[in-house]
This record gives sequence, C-alpha cells and structure tokens, in this order.
Amino acid sequence: MAEQLKRPNTITSRRGFYVKMRLNGKQNQLLEKKNPYFRFYKWILWLSLSLYFLTSFFISHKPIPLSKTHFSKSPSTVASRALFESSSSSSASTNSSALPPEKKKQSRRHLLKDLKIFVYDLPSKYNSDWLANERCSNHLFASEVAIHRAIANDDDVRTYDPYEADFFFVPVYVACNFSTVNGFPAIGHARTLISSAIQLISTSYPFWNRSQGADHVFVASHDFGSCFHTLEDRAVEDGVPEFMKWSIVLQTFGVKHRHPCQEVENVVIPPYVSPASVQRTLDKAPVNGRRDIWAFFRGKMEVNPKNVSGRYYSKKVRTVIWRKFSGDRRFYLQRQRFAGYQSEIVRSTFCLCPLGWAPWSPRLVESVALGCVPVIIADGIRLPFPAAVPWPEISLTVAESDVGKLGKILDHVAATNLSTIQRNLWDPEVRRALLFNEEIQEGDATWQVLYALAEKLDRSRRTVRVSDQ
Ligand SMILES: *[C@@H]1O[C@H](CO)[C@@H](O)[C@H](O)[C@H]1NC(C)=O
Ligand SMILES: *[C@@H]1O[C@H](CO)[C@@H](O)[C@H](O)[C@H]1NC(C)=O
Ligand SMILES: *[C@@H]1O[C@H](CO)[C@@H](O)[C@H](O)[C@H]1NC(C)=O
Ligand SMILES: *[C@@H]1O[C@H](CO)[C@@H](O)[C@H](O)[C@H]1NC(C)=O
Ligand SMILES: *[C@@H]1O[C@H](CO)[C@@H](O)[C@H](O)[C@H]1NC(C)=O
Repeated sequence: MAEQLKRPNTITSRRGFYVKMRLNGKQNQLLEKKNPYFRFYKWILWLSLSLYFLTSFFISHKPIPLSKTHFSKSPSTVASRALFESSSSSSASTNSSALPPEKKKQSRRHLLKDLKIFVYDLPSKYNSDWLANERCSNHLFASEVAIHRAIANDDDVRTYDPYEADFFFVPVYVACNFSTVNGFPAIGHARTLISSAIQLISTSYPFWNRSQGADHVFVASHDFGSCFHTLEDRAVEDGVPEFMKWSIVLQTFGVKHRHPCQEVENVVIPPYVSPASVQRTLDKAPVNGRRDIWAFFRGKMEVNPKNVSGRYYSKKVRTVIWRKFSGDRRFYLQRQRFAGYQSEIVRSTFCLCPLGWAPWSPRLVESVALGCVPVIIADGIRLPFPAAVPWPEISLTVAESDVGKLGKILDHVAATNLSTIQRNLWDPEVRRALLFNEEIQEGDATWQVLYALAEKLDRSRRTVRVSDQ
C-alpha cells in the first residue's frame, strides 16, 4: 500500500485488480480463520482504499483552478467581458465619487478596457507651433489641442511602446490658421498638412501600413469634420480625403442621415468650451440659482438672409426666430457679440441652439454646462456621447419647420415637465461629460472619447492578438 500511495498515477488502472487479488485469494481466507484480527485488518484496508480512491478522484478532477487560467485568454470570455463591462458602465460611472482614489483608478481602467494609445511625436510644425497664437487652445475648435494634451499627459492610457498600443493618435492641428482679415480659422491647408503627416508616419513607422490607418485616430473639430471645408456644398464635393478614409475621426459634425462628411469611422465630439470659463461663471451664479431670462439667444441672426451658392444661413431658422420673437418680452434675443454671454446663459431657463451653417454649435455645450435647457433646432443632428448624456431627458428638440411655434412649445414645457428636465440636466455627471479638461477626469469629454474608442477595439491589433491564441 505504501508504495502504491507514493506512485498513484502509474497504477490507477491496475488498482482494482490488485485489491481483488488480495481479498479473494484463498490464502486470505485461511488467514482469516487463523487470525481473528484479520477481519479487522480487512476493514481497515477497505476503508483506506476507499479513502484513497476518493482523494485521488478529487486530485485528478481538480477542474476549477486549472481551467480558470485558460479561460481568461479565450476569445469567448473576452466577448463576455466586454458585455459585462458595457452593462456595468452606467452604474459604475454614476457614483465613482464615493470610491477611494486607488479603487477609482481601477474602475476607470476597467471601463476603458485597459485601453492603450500611442501618440506620435510629430515635428512641431504639425502642432505645437500653432500654439504661439493663444486662441489655438481656446477657441471652439480647440478640442484638437485639448484631446492631444489630455491623452499625452495621461500615464494610464498613453503608451510609449507602439507594439502595445490599441490605437495611434496623430496630433495635427488644422484649425489654428486664423485669417488676418476676419479672424476665422482658414482650413484650406488641412488636407495637405494631414497628408504630409501621414506620409511621415507611414515611412518612419510600420503601423500605418499594417492597418491602412484603421487603428489611427484624428481630430476634425471644425464645421464639416473630415471634409475639411467650411461650406457644406464644397465640403460635400470634396468628401473625406482618400488618405484617411480607413481611419477613425473624432468630429463635431454629425447627422443621423447619410452624409458624405461622415463616411468614415467617426465619433461625434462636443465643440471646445473652456472648463475654466464655465467654472468662473458658476462661481458667480450657481447652476440652480435664479433664472430671470426665459428664452435666450445671442448670435448671428440675418434679417434678410443671403443666398450663398444656393444655401441660406441657418436655413433661415434664425431669421424666423428674430422676426417672430424679437418683439416678445419673454425672449432675450441679441445679435451683437458679447464676451460675457456665459453670464446670460446661466441666468436663462431655455437656451436656443439653432443650426448655423453646420447643425452643431458651442451653445449646446455651454447650455448644458451652465444648466440652461438647450432647445435644439437642427433637424437630424447627431449629438455627442449619447451613452453618457441622456439628451432626450435634458433638452428639447424643436423641428426646424416648427420654429414659428417656439413660444407655445416652451410655454407648454414650462407648465408641465420643465422641473423634471432641469433636475436631469443639473446632474454633475451630465454637465461634466461635454468638457475637455487639461488632465482627464473620469466621465469628462476626453474620457468619453476613450470610452468610445474602447468600444471600437475590434479595429485594433488587440483582436488580432486575442484570436492568435
Ligand atoms: C455618490 O456618493 C456620494 C458620497 O458618498 C453621495 O453624496 C452621492 O449622493 C452619491 N450619488 C449617487 C448618485 O448615488
Ligand atoms: C494659412 O492660411 C492662409 C490663407 O488664409 C494661407 O495662405 C497660408 O498658406 C496658410 N498657412 C499655412 C501654414 O498653411
Ligand atoms: C508603407 O507603404 C508606402 C507606400 O506603399 C511605402 O512608401 C512605405 O515605405 C511603407 N512604409 C514602411 C515603413 O514600409
Ligand atoms: C440661390 O442661388 C442659386 C445660385 O447660386 C440659384 O440657383 C438659386 O435659384 C437661388 N435660390 C433662390 C431661392 O433664389
Ligand atoms: C417634456 O415635454 C415635452 C413636450 O410635451 C416632450 O416633448 C418632452 O419629451 C418631455 N421631456 C421630458 C424629459 O419629459
């Protein structure tokens, strides 16, 4: 027995035979008669043998710890992990303030699926040279700068090892060539600048060619995004440049219908509004303070709109607003520029966000951040980060053709569900989601970009790595 126990594996199949021999042998029967202790001995033998079988069964059938390690690498569990993560995301992001810092960091990594981004270190003419003009990092197209900075400063997400990266960020600032005539950004150089950056990275690194740029990320934060033109008809005519058609573009432009300027993998991002300016405004007037302006709009409203190559500014929506409501005392409508307009938003109940040339506008972000109910008048607009911002619960949508009835619509809401909408809107999580901070904060706009990228991991090398195993 002693020897058997020492080498259990070699004799497993012979074990039953051996026991039978010992117990049924004629010799044993004789012994049994001669020695009264033999029966006792037999019992002990049985007992120890049964114990032995029982323990060896458990030893050789130890399923739990062994298969667990194999499990976590199989593609099927990767998929279920993704499912788990997306289903847990809403609950996990609602109360992270309660977590201690280390736990917070863990929960953040978990939601972002341990995303790793390699940031190309391009010559300064592609990015930092433009920062000589202070406006470059502050105007409404400045998300191209803010996202670059926030990712580059984040040691969790940024990787310096491109072979470890899920995505590659190409930091080219295209919206900072401000016209000396009117101060607007001239983006005529955008295509050549980006194409030369791609030329550079595709010859000095293997990663662009490896994927045709599918795991490369760009920002196109101006009017018609990856079409790189400020006029829609020209933008549509030009389309998305061939060289970035396979990449991922973070763009402010987004509509629900088919449009040539979003025929590329894209994430709709909010326009840039400085979080510091929002904070300064809120320091003076809290989000739940007195709102003595009922409906607010300040911006370009053409009384007699011009036909610009077949199109009218704001599809004449702003003209209708001006004509119908400038005489209504409840509407505070201003056509001149005023640097302190945020102090007006924080005093307003409803903030009108009509389309301009493009459907989106920075008013959307400022209204949400300052707690004024956005009244979105831009048919078919695709709004940023719908997973984080419950747009139907925090805003009103008015069809362009209904803009003449704005007064009645707002009256009705004020009499019924205004306080519900405001309560939803004043949730700090919602107001944080549209602002780009210098350093990523959980749930802020850059974080939402990373979250959206983590949902696109099927475009990255990680899927290749997983299925290789
Ligand atoms: C989150 O936790 C904080 C601190 O414990 C608490 O004050 C807050 O009400 C919680 N928020 C939610 C949405 O549960
Ligand atoms: C900036 O825009 C102007 C046109 O407004 C253009 O002439 C100039 O070449 C652009 N600068 C660069 C560096 O592309
Ligand atoms: C990538 O492809 C281009 C065009 O085919 C080629 O010129 C370039 O040398 C390639 N880059 C690398 C790193 O092999
Ligand atoms: C607007 O101008 C275009 C030419 O640029 C012309 O074809 C069109 O008929 C004009 N529309 C109106 C309503 O005048
Ligand atoms: C509030 O009421 C308006 C008009 O009846 C409706 O369109 C909107 O969906 C409601 N919003 C919420 C959050 O209940």
